[in-house]
Amino acid sequence: MRLDKYVSQVSDLSRKEVKRLLRAGYISVDGETVKDAGMHIEDTMEVSIDGEPLQAPRSRYFMLNKPQGYVCVTKDRDHPTVLELLDEPNKEKLQIAGRLDIDTTGLVLLTDDGQWNHAVTSPKRDCRKTYLVTLANDIAEDTEARFQEGVLLEGELKITKPANLEVLFSNEARLTISEGKYHQVKRMFAAVGNRVEELHREQIGEIILDPDLTPGEYRELTEEEANSVLLQP
Ligand code: URA
Repeated sequence: MRLDKYVSQVSDLSRKEVKRLLRAGYISVDGETVKDAGMHIEDTMEVSIDGEPLQAPRSRYFMLNKPQGYVCVTKDRDHPTVLELLDEPNKEKLQIAGRLDIDTTGLVLLTDDGQWNHAVTSPKRDCRKTYLVTLANDIAEDTEARFQEGVLLEGELKITKPANLEVLFSNEARLTISEGKYHQVKRMFAAVGNRVEELHREQIGEIILDPDLTPGEYRELTEEEANSVLLQP
């Protein structure tokens, strides 16, 4: 990568600011002052500003407790986006690892690590997601067995993968699925003649929504949480 681009990316300075620093002799590569903005930078080189070595940017991983009314897209004309809840630099680089509907609450993961996002969302990885569901009607006795066997969602040709339903009350349950089809939970309950009234995501893979996060709050994932995604079989 070109020196000016590298410094700008790692430091958050604009290219213009970087060029000024270069001209003024503040930037060095492996201890030598460099003024050539186009110099080619390799991974092994140490670039410093005023003698301070720059650290390569590390990937960021966040969990957010999504409130109702926010959309899981990066830009929207009509609704606030989950990104607006984050007070972080370079928010435009963050990707949402598994979207929730506007009226669904709970765990949303965000990252600027594309591979990690893929590990969470790729249908091939079967990453488990657990939802707390409140329904309009009492849960029929055969729902657990039907979700275990798989149901045919409207407009689909393949039945859903086995899903685990734990009935908590007559109209409340915890559902764990390993797919992420559009409106999957709502469509699964529609397929057995019920209707979702409230939906809250509690867990993705091994990552559990932190109970200390009130709706709208977020925190960085611990290293263990972030690594758990890549360790899954
Ligand atoms: N399934 C849904 O129907 N909606 C969500 O937001 C998430 C899963």
